[in-house]
Amino acid sequence: ALERTFSILKPDATRRNLTGAVNAVIEAAGLRIVGQRRIRMTREQAETFYAVHKERPFFGELVEFMTSGPVVVQVLEGENAVAKYREVMGATNPAQAAEGTIRKQFAESVGENTVHGSDSADNAKIEIAQFFTDADIAA
Ligand code: CMP
Repeated sequence: ALERTFSILKPDATRRNLTGAVNAVIEAAGLRIVGQRRIRMTREQAETFYAVHKERPFFGELVEFMTSGPVVVQVLEGENAVAKYREVMGATNPAQAAEGTIRKQFAESVGENTVHGSDSADNAKIEIAQFFTDADIAA
């Protein structure tokens, strides 16, 4: 089914000027970037976004990193966009990511792993709503 997912190009991507290179991989995979905005995430936004990880030992580090530089938040649309984008991103740990994936090509570590993508269609809706209104999206 035609679906939307939420994507973040993380601070390690913007710092290395990789926005276009990552977007090229996304578009080559057949996903359409139907919403996109470059922002500096506030601590509050990052804590809300990653609330499910609050009890994890890396939570503080994760929030620090996500607020350490600009990010590009995106809405991606396509057939089975949630699963498709997870395939295109590759494994969370770049050391385990498959050849040709974004994380294999660009990610530096499990923390600084270049991109985020929603893990389910339900979470995609919640995550998109945190950063986009309907007026920010044009399909
Ligand atoms: P993301 O998909 O954005 O969702 C949660 C993030 O936590 C994940 O990507 C990783 O970047 C980060 N993460 C997971 N495990 C670790 C870890 N062991 N140390 C630091 N960050 C981690």
